[in-house]
Amino acid sequence: MTTTSNSEQTQLSLAKLFPANFLWGAATASYQIEGATHEDGRGPSIWDTFAATPGKVYQGHNGDVADDHYHRVDDDIALMTRLGLSAYRFSIAWPRILPQGHGDVNPRGLDFYERLVDTLLSKGIQPFATLYHWDLPQALEDKGGWRNRETAYAFAEYAEIVARRLGDRVAGWITLNEPWCSAYLGYGNGVHAPGVQDRQSALDAGHHLLLGHGLALPRIRAHVTNGAQVGITLNFTPGYPADDRPETLRDLARYDAFSDRWLLDPIVRGSYPEDFFKNMALQAPPIEDGDMEIISAPIDFLGVNNYTRSVIRGTEPAPLADACQMVAPIPSASYTEMGWEVYPNALSELLVRLHKEYALPKLYVTENGSAFRDQWGGGEHVHDPRRLSYLQEHLQGIVRAIEQGAPVQGYFTWSLLDNYEWAEGYSKRFGIIYVDYDSQRRIIKDSGLWYADLIQKYKEEQA
Ligand code: FCB
Repeated sequence: MTTTSNSEQTQLSLAKLFPANFLWGAATASYQIEGATHEDGRGPSIWDTFAATPGKVYQGHNGDVADDHYHRVDDDIALMTRLGLSAYRFSIAWPRILPQGHGDVNPRGLDFYERLVDTLLSKGIQPFATLYHWDLPQALEDKGGWRNRETAYAFAEYAEIVARRLGDRVAGWITLNEPWCSAYLGYGNGVHAPGVQDRQSALDAGHHLLLGHGLALPRIRAHVTNGAQVGITLNFTPGYPADDRPETLRDLARYDAFSDRWLLDPIVRGSYPEDFFKNMALQAPPIEDGDMEIISAPIDFLGVNNYTRSVIRGTEPAPLADACQMVAPIPSASYTEMGWEVYPNALSELLVRLHKEYALPKLYVTENGSAFRDQWGGGEHVHDPRRLSYLQEHLQGIVRAIEQGAPVQGYFTWSLLDNYEWAEGYSKRFGIIYVDYDSQRRIIKDSGLWYADLIQKYKEEQA
């Protein structure tokens, strides 16, 4: 009894600390949940190709069925309503809209997202649409993908097509999700699609992703008639020093430029971090006149994805910026199934840093969450105490950041549903809702029930 009322009390005090109009959300991405990869005119994406390539994805898993969300969208929105979400972040599959990447539009693709958006709005849930969450049409990859400058123009064309249809209804537009991952994991170390291993290509791809973002901004805004905000989501894994030796501080700065500033600085400051290309031992990407102005056009908000931190230990000679030594495991630290340390202060301090050093107008935490090995015994419950603590501690971290002035306006937990975790296939569960992949049954986990209670308490406080 006492523990229940204590935790109820903690939850209530937490709910009271969030500002008015705070958005309570959950996030997903098209390839990770939709399935129906061969339906209604969708063209192939780089993830279909990558997943079909032996040895690339855990046990050869692919997104053909995933959570079958394409057919179960109404049921999934009913679950969002049950959770009391005020916002939902999803992504639009470019190959459903433009099966060849550009040119002919597939109306059934647009229809699907229009129905999703309209249903969300009818339930009072604000739609946040990400235009690119990694499922590049394969036809564009065949011409070089993000290594090819033309892909940036194709992206802007695609963004405008979607905005023309939904610009009166979507509440928040996110051009790209984590271009760092698209560039470095996709073209640098090849862990993600399209699986290219060439560090110079990663820098070139990063530049073209940024250019695509910048070119898309005005083309989206031209069709926004409901006051919607337009931004971008970046991933951050803040570095912390393992000791105070000068070489550790030097390597930490190198790591920071690579991990957290490579794509942020061009957007906010209009330039790449100083010495970044030199510290990567690479050439600058092909920057053309006017590119940096296009890339640094003002955004309405920055979407922040954060899961963990890295602890850096300096080495001699100085390492390349992407090869700094990380200390792990840290004795006494706790880790998720991804091997990521649970360190809520990283999110808190990151939000404060973005506010103080980058003066961003608005921040949303567009992803944050944890994978643990959940067990479902066939009943009505899934107990996931570690995810529940992770969620609670990170929300407390956000409160600390808000208290220091960080303009955080919403939180989207990753993820609404267990789903296809890219190269890890279905082996990692991040959902606050459990998915039994055999039956496609959904069970709200304890963390999801806790989140629903928190949202309810917040709403009562605000009423
Ligand atoms: C992020 C991705 C998201 C999900 C989480 C765990 O990098 O944006 O799709 O896979 O990691």
